Amino acid sequence: MMLLKTVQANGMIETIQPSTGRSNQLGDGNSLVTQDASGIQLIQASDAQAVGTLAAEHVAALLEEKPDASIVFPTGKTPLPMYKTLRHWPHLDWRQTRLFHLDEYVPPPQRPKVLPYETYEQYMRRELWDYIAGSKYFLGHYIHDFAAYEQEILKNDGPDLVILGIGNNGHIAFNEPGSSPDSLCRLIDLAPETIQANFGAEGMQRSGYPRQAVTLGMKTILAAKKILLLATGSGKQGITQQAFDPSTPPNLNCPASWLKQHSNLVVLTDFALCF
Ligand code: GLP
Repeated sequence: MMLLKTVQANGMIETIQPSTGRSNQLGDGNSLVTQDASGIQLIQASDAQAVGTLAAEHVAALLEEKPDASIVFPTGKTPLPMYKTLRHWPHLDWRQTRLFHLDEYVPPPQRPKVLPYETYEQYMRRELWDYIAGSKYFLGHYIHDFAAYEQEILKNDGPDLVILGIGNNGHIAFNEPGSSPDSLCRLIDLAPETIQANFGAEGMQRSGYPRQAVTLGMKTILAAKKILLLATGSGKQGITQQAFDPSTPPNLNCPASWLKQHSNLVVLTDFALCF
């Protein structure tokens, strides 16, 4: 079944119109189209900001429903509009929430005095966590006790919501290709294409850039009550299409494809997916 939703200029969903048939066409202005593909809700918004606004709406709805929710947040360029929206919404009450992030770089063994890159802790503080209340858990602080980080996330029947981006090679957090659906929080070698994507040629050639990271595993991500995956920009279209194509079974080559096994997955894009 396909659901057609339209959104107002402020990003609020205005109407829901059940219909038959399939569509992946963008509507006018701020409208968007959703379709159900094997239980996955695919939502195509008009642009990256509209994706961010809709993602922020999901977070706001959860905070309203469950003020002590546990939420896992992603880094990267894709979620920036969501963070900008969330930090400008003073009505949100974060006081009881428990906030986690997905992954963190591990500095190289000869750690320079000043790292030539931004850590994900710095990113999370800059983008949202320094603006809001709530209990904040930094994965980099648990590098010697991953089990404790997992336990915090799984407390109170959590995680309630995991928000994700997708890497160009299909990675989720830093679950690089080869990651199994029952993988746990762990140290992982970054794929060369990930180093290239995140740090460019400089990151590949110069010392001081990370070659490893710590990441939440697919098992804990899949334990979420709800997963929201954000993908924007034409560069992410191919890998998103590949990951969520209902005709391809989930596989190790594309860790994002394991998400198809989840019963409450929303994929928010600003491009069309054709199945
Ligand atoms: C990094 C992060 C991922 C993120 C991905 C995509 O590798 N570990 O969690 O999803 O980048 O980032 P971007 O949104 O900048 O494309």
